[in-house]
Amino acid sequence: MNNTAPQVRTLTGPVIAIDGPAGSGKSTVSRALAARLGIDRLDTGAMYRAVAWAALHRSIEPQDRKAVAELARTLVFEVGERVEADGCDVTEAIRGAEVSGAVSSVAANPDVRSVLVERQRQWVAERGGGVVEGRDIGSVVLPEADVKIYLTASAEERARRRPEEGADAVARRDRLDSTRETSPLGVAEGARIIDTTARSVGDIVDEVIAWL
Ligand code: DC
Repeated sequence: MNNTAPQVRTLTGPVIAIDGPAGSGKSTVSRALAARLGIDRLDTGAMYRAVAWAALHRSIEPQDRKAVAELARTLVFEVGERVEADGCDVTEAIRGAEVSGAVSSVAANPDVRSVLVERQRQWVAERGGGVVEGRDIGSVVLPEADVKIYLTASAEERARRRPEEGADAVARRDRLDSTRETSPLGVAEGARIIDTTARSVGDIVDEVIAWL
């Protein structure tokens, strides 16, 4: 075999992009879809949260563009069933009010986004597929995904799903995430919109699988 030949990877599954606002059901649906298809899932929100947590942990101002970008470039972190950053298990801490309040500033930083988008594409390339959830997956990270989904739900239902964050904080975060300059949340070209307000997870998973 010629060692210099480019490696050809075998695709191990479809690429599924899931976007939507806070509380729209992305994590529940993407987890169920990945389990049904036997493929991996990546929660890209947890990556932005890990960087936000580390900024707070190191007393870096979340709005300090240069310092947070440098942090994103150098931070050692791992996002899977558990999330680790700076050698700590931060799985629960990244869901707390402090990180939720800071994460939109971190996510609005274009330098942070370019570092994390690269890591997200790498994650998919290593597996040859997967379910990836976030805000810009269908539009920026994986515009060639096999299926793009935009999940939505009524504001009341989304707030009900995030009792620890509170309706006002959820609305504020969605406003910041949808109006920022770089890769704002929106419906990607070619995305199918699913309203999860009154639907079961199994029903939504069946619908998405039928599109593959
Ligand atoms: O999905 P989540 O609520 O855990 O995401 C946390 C924040 O990260 C969210 O307020 C916006 C940001 N985010 C983003 O800008 N782009 C992504 N692909 C994923 C999340």
